Amino acid sequence: MCGIVGYAGSEQAVPILMGGLAKLEYRGYDSAGVALQQDCGLTVIKSKGRLAELRRQLETAGDTRGTVGLGHTRWATHGEPSDLNAHPHLSQDARFAVVHNGIIENYIELKQMLLEKGYTFQSQTDTEVIVNLLAYYDTGDLLDTVLKVRNKLGGSYALGVLSAAAPGQIVAVRKDSPLIVGLCKSGALMASDIPALIAHTRDYYELSEREAAVLTKDGARFYNVNREPVSKTPYHVDWDIDAASLGGYEHFMMKEIMEQPRVLRDTISSKIHDGEVVFPDVSLTRAQVEAIDRLYIVACGSAAHAGMVGKHVIRRVAGLSAEVELASEFRYQEPLLTDRSLVVIISQSGETADSLAALRYAREKGAKTLAVVNVLGSSIARSAEHVIYTNAGPEIAVATTKAYSCQLAVMYLLAVYLGRALGRLSDEDNASLLKELQALPDKADALLGCKETMQYYAAQYYGAKDIFLIGRNLDYAAALEASLKLKEISYIHSEAYAAGELKHGPIALLERGTLVVALAATVSMADKLRSNILEVKARGAEVLALAQEGDEKIKTVADALFEVPRTPDIFTPSMTIIPMQFFAYYVAAMRGMDIDKPRNLAKSVTVE
Ligand code: AGP
Ligand code: GLU
Repeated sequence: MCGIVGYAGSEQAVPILMGGLAKLEYRGYDSAGVALQQDCGLTVIKSKGRLAELRRQLETAGDTRGTVGLGHTRWATHGEPSDLNAHPHLSQDARFAVVHNGIIENYIELKQMLLEKGYTFQSQTDTEVIVNLLAYYDTGDLLDTVLKVRNKLGGSYALGVLSAAAPGQIVAVRKDSPLIVGLCKSGALMASDIPALIAHTRDYYELSEREAAVLTKDGARFYNVNREPVSKTPYHVDWDIDAASLGGYEHFMMKEIMEQPRVLRDTISSKIHDGEVVFPDVSLTRAQVEAIDRLYIVACGSAAHAGMVGKHVIRRVAGLSAEVELASEFRYQEPLLTDRSLVVIISQSGETADSLAALRYAREKGAKTLAVVNVLGSSIARSAEHVIYTNAGPEIAVATTKAYSCQLAVMYLLAVYLGRALGRLSDEDNASLLKELQALPDKADALLGCKETMQYYAAQYYGAKDIFLIGRNLDYAAALEASLKLKEISYIHSEAYAAGELKHGPIALLERGTLVVALAATVSMADKLRSNILEVKARGAEVLALAQEGDEKIKTVADALFEVPRTPDIFTPSMTIIPMQFFAYYVAAMRGMDIDKPRNLAKSVTVE
């Protein structure tokens, strides 16, 4: 995962690199470092721990002047987080410095070859192989050398390279890991993601897989594999500078929870025109939709949970059966794909390696592909034939909240779109579903008022050893996401179970006082769920139920009840998830956890 930033220009590089890294820390935060081109050669300052640690090191490092440099914040794949394993890495002869995001899959063979040539290694990383290969294959021309070394590398990489012999230059290449380039008045920048560039420019270039970029104070030049110049058109983002800052909140996660009404409104309203769902970047014909033989929804983590909701809603609204697959499993299950199959990939970042690989696999098999993505111009958005953007804006907290909510909204919209294209949704039903859908942002707004109530419940249960969640059907899909939120940021062991499944084993885990959160918002499931609540209560569990306003019967069985605004069953996950996000947030806060940067995780999982 890792965040990379590079600057070649006429200003001091350190403040620019550190500013960029601060915006990329969500991508990895176990160590960080910078490399600078100085008169005396290349200087690397790096350290285990957060960016604050690197900042301390820089303060005492002496001369940190230099107008060309690279920065990195790491999420370790090869070798523990340590000073030595932190990036940038220097070649043995200190002539080259490299920052890397990704995994070099053939690094053992390459390392062996270099060891035989007499190279020695300081770190346990795969990255150090790259930098020593640069020294070994050095042609005297930095771009040539990088292109030569790239041919030897297997796996995934975004690379920024500095050479002591090429003053004023950074060379960048990538494969399967993101990298963008931006221009500013004083020079050129590169980064793993837009937030790192936004203080300098809103126009950026996507580096393609078979290209290389050379950054200097005069700008950026792009080349193809044959070293021929390539001209590129920049993308533009409207994000304001504040979009990626805390804006008075203590954590991005809270800021992003609170943004949900607005981003839901943006996502929904931008896709309804004249009473119909319209996706500008989807060009499926009616005949193609009618011909769909299989519909797969493929994603990881929370995006897969949104996919589970999508599966139920698409079946109910469009009468189309869908399967949800984890992206990391999809290819290995030999899915039955034809040119009539539709594979929907959901991803906030648009860079998740497993989801991207699943998408490519689907394309190879001839299936139609549709990506539901938050980040404009991301690899998944660019690789899919059809795209629907969620309009969540930049999401910084590692635990997703607003992007997941927007993914749910897109699932509802997609269900209506498919239902209409298949002629299975009458004008009347279409109008009433869209009306309910457009009412969701206001209901989400009302739910923000539950903050203190959920804080109160969190105060009661933050010491829990285990927390179980139960629900049926759509409530179960929402329970999976609520449970993931708890696990990710509070580190409390939490499991979500389909409520009817509990008695087939997991009920043995219940002890007196164990908290069971019962999601009972879908009216069609309410009676059955009440029985399940009684079952767990009979084993001593304490039950906090979430149900629709006015469900009087649930009051009689739950120990505590939280009511969500009334909405048709299919939209209930959008209601129950908001109080559960607050609950997870406050439980984590009360346990003193690092909410935006939970241990062992990173926002964008660009390794398989
Ligand atoms: C969400 O809170 C997680 N951190 C994680 O499960 C995430 O949803 C998953 O890694 C998928 O990411 P993507 O949406 O960027 O593809
Ligand atoms: N493989 C490199 C390392 O372990 C980079 C890791 C990454 O990009 O996640 O340092």
